[in-house]
Amino acid sequence: MIEIKDKIYYVGVNDRNKSRFEGLWPLPNGVSYNSYLIDDDKVCLIDTVEVDFFTQFIENIHEVIGDRPIDYIVINHMEPDHSGSLGLIKKFYPNVKFIGNKKTFGMLSGFYGINGDTIEIKEGDSISLGKHNISFTMIPMVHWPETMATLETTTNILFSGDAFGSFGALNGGLIDSDICCDPFWLEMIRYYSNIVGKYGVPVQNALKKLVEMKIDYICSTHGPVWHEYIYKVMSLYNMMSKYETDEGIVICYGTMYGNTERMAEVIARAASNAGIKNIVMYNVSKTDHSYIIRDVFRYRGLIVGAPTYNTGLYHEMDTLLNEIGNRDVKNHYIGWFGSYGWAGKAVAKIKELNETHLHFEKVGIPVEMKQSMTPEVAAQCEALGKAMAERLKADRCAD
Ligand code: FEO
Repeated sequence: MIEIKDKIYYVGVNDRNKSRFEGLWPLPNGVSYNSYLIDDDKVCLIDTVEVDFFTQFIENIHEVIGDRPIDYIVINHMEPDHSGSLGLIKKFYPNVKFIGNKKTFGMLSGFYGINGDTIEIKEGDSISLGKHNISFTMIPMVHWPETMATLETTTNILFSGDAFGSFGALNGGLIDSDICCDPFWLEMIRYYSNIVGKYGVPVQNALKKLVEMKIDYICSTHGPVWHEYIYKVMSLYNMMSKYETDEGIVICYGTMYGNTERMAEVIARAASNAGIKNIVMYNVSKTDHSYIIRDVFRYRGLIVGAPTYNTGLYHEMDTLLNEIGNRDVKNHYIGWFGSYGWAGKAVAKIKELNETHLHFEKVGIPVEMKQSMTPEVAAQCEALGKAMAERLKADRCAD
């Protein structure tokens, strides 16, 4: 097992089998469930792993402590990818004590029927393990209500739960300074935007507490241990939770026979001609929405378009707009377009969804196309792309 520092070990596992995290989010590079063990007079486990990986997990623990028992388990987060092994750990170590807060234990009872052997801690409490000392900070809604972080105060190692986590299994190395982190940055944004993205205010509240601490390592429950890049991951979280973005446009479209796609191409060309460098384009039916939502958290401009379908909005676009709306994204601009064969509804439906769900600032004049591209429609699409570019460029001075 990898020793992070002073008898604090990584005992987590990798999952390269699951297709979708939470049954929703694709895992092209897998995911890790990180757990940590502090080997001291009192042995303390920090979080566990998904129960499917229990055999590997218990072997990892034995590799560190042999036949010695675990005295404490700190439960920073009760979602079952981290709490799933608690019931079996209790069977292996019947005298173990569960450390958590008031909200933790209702979930511990509900998920696993565990009702005793608990130590309830509050904000700022600490527990000595011998040479090591752990103290607790509540970070509710990052991203469940019971979530907390644990700081080991002699090494300044923060066990942060899901905060600062990333999709992507660990391929041998663990600490950021020992590995190439390039594959993790966009996956960290995809993890944050899809899973935590709704909770910008709680994340800001958590960051206000964490920046006051001296932290040398951040041990999240997913992805690398951060040491060299602590400032970068904190800055990234600060930016994302304030819905701050780079200059750029996400152009996302649904298309059945390519006519609506042609509109998107004209819009993109016009935006590029007007000086916007970051333009990403997605067919909403082909690209998993988690990648589109990730880029909505990266770029301030969004232009969406789709055909009318069954006198409503092409349903993949309807789904995407509801998903974006569900995340309470702020500080964004939107333009839209649509098409129809005999009765136009898509454009009106996108307008309605923006007004009821997204609340983005409207930019440009929506374009509605009947059946196929004409010179008039092309000119309207060019105007929409240019309008978005100009709106973004107007922020250059303000930013
Ligand atoms: Fe990684 Fe919220 O569980």
